[in-house]
Amino acid sequence: MLSEKSRPVIEATLPVIQGRINTITPIFYERLFKNHPELMDGMFSRADQKEGIQPRALAGSIPVFASYILNNPDSYPDEILSRVAHKHASLGVGEEGYEIVYKYLFEAIAIDLADALTPEIAEAWTEVYWLMAQALIKIEKGLYDSQANDVVNAPFTLVKKEEVAPNVYDFTFEPADNTPLTPAEAGQYVGVVVKTADGLRQPRQYSLLPSQLHQRRFAVKINPAGEVTPMLKDLREGDTIELSNPYGDVVLNNISPLEFGPLYLFTSGIGIAPALAFVHKLASQGNGREIIAVHRDQSLESWPLRQEYAAAINSLPDGKLISFLQAEGEGDYDGDIDMSRFQLSRQSSAFMCGPLDFMQTVRSSLVQAGLPGKNIHYEVFGPDQWMHRARRQTIQGRRYVS
Ligand SMILES: Cc1cc2nc3c(=O)[nH]c(=O)nc-3n(C[C@H](O)[C@H](O)[C@H](O)COP(=O)(O)OP(=O)(O)OC[C@H]3O[C@@H](n4cnc5c(N)ncnc54)[C@H](O)[C@@H]3O)c2cc1C
Ligand code: HEM
Repeated sequence: MLSEKSRPVIEATLPVIQGRINTITPIFYERLFKNHPELMDGMFSRADQKEGIQPRALAGSIPVFASYILNNPDSYPDEILSRVAHKHASLGVGEEGYEIVYKYLFEAIAIDLADALTPEIAEAWTEVYWLMAQALIKIEKGLYDSQANDVVNAPFTLVKKEEVAPNVYDFTFEPADNTPLTPAEAGQYVGVVVKTADGLRQPRQYSLLPSQLHQRRFAVKINPAGEVTPMLKDLREGDTIELSNPYGDVVLNNISPLEFGPLYLFTSGIGIAPALAFVHKLASQGNGREIIAVHRDQSLESWPLRQEYAAAINSLPDGKLISFLQAEGEGDYDGDIDMSRFQLSRQSSAFMCGPLDFMQTVRSSLVQAGLPGKNIHYEVFGPDQWMHRARRQTIQGRRYVS
């Protein structure tokens, strides 16, 4: 809880700090990576740094957290902290890193605000930083402790690679050493680390697909302009890369407690991956609730993992698959998802995964149809965009996309 001494200082300076994030963050990262180049090796994504999305996410989340605790003095934004902690754990962020980030972040604030930064303001924001840091450290400790091993990444060998749609590859890996394997929950992802041409190790995350217990399987949409996916495309059976333990809290129990009504799964392109894991899990449980899977794609050919998804949905006691494809006459419907085709009730819950514009459109339609925001969940295949919305409103749960 924020101290009574700091509360008025944070209230008064929040708009200033929020307004300065875009100038504070470049100073912060320049100094951080200059003094700790090892953080770029296997932990931070160089592509995200270029894009500027992640830099804003890390530093910008602190004023967002401050705004939340000002408005909700007795609680923390648990869902947001959880997402960040899972991401951190998949990258191996340790407690010692928080002192380093604090040092360079607050040096950057001091440089940017210059004389405007009084000792009183610095002290109040230091309190906010450590409240958030301690909350993250605690969750991350719990996540590390729940693993079957104490390593960040372990070597895995590619045992199967298959092109399952144009430019989408399905990879299956098996452990290359004796590191015990933590069982993954449907909806979780692993961190994947590859060594790039200049020797720097670079991480990405991939949602796990159904596989045998001793394997890790995921599907990758190759981005020819990307840094890591072209390297994954070139992998051959027998090659070894590093994989993290499984992380991610967008799992069935969180998105859809079993007593709930119908569950809608809205997916587009490679966003089908976590939905396939959910459906497979529900089918193995013989779960009788109504599952409506709605997939959007270009065509039958471009739709990854289509047959496996259809088979899993068919094996559900009450499952339906509905497709919206751009290619005329190939799907159940042509074009983009048309929400008026569904009879959504307030008891329905929904999960979505796909490009951000797709999720934004689906979410708006769901809200308009009367679905409570708390029943709408998503996985986003990149740094979460909640920062943008959070500037406009108090956080209401990270699984919102507005
Ligand atoms: C939890 C999670 C699960 C994921 N699961 C999968 C999966 O199952 N299958 C899959 O194919 N991918 C998945 N991803 C995405 C994956 O981690 C990589 O981001 C993706 O494969 C691109 O990697 P790359 O190295 O080829 O491209 P990069 O080198 O990372 O970048 C590609 C280009 O896109 C830009 N860019 C990066 N992020 C964004 C963004 N958010 N908005 C706009 N531009 C951006 C970069 O600056 C660059 O220009 C997942 C991501 C997360 C966070
Ligand atoms: C209080 C301190 C911190 C806060 C508030 C914070 C916040 C965040 C946020 C909001 C994200 C984006 C999560 C997402 O939506 O995917 C993130 C990602 C990340 N954080 Fe932190 N973080 C903190 C400390 C640290 C530390 C100490 C390290 C390591 C030294 C670290 C390394 C990373 C990395 C590597 C990513 C992913 C970046 C990428 O995609 O390149 N963070 N953090």
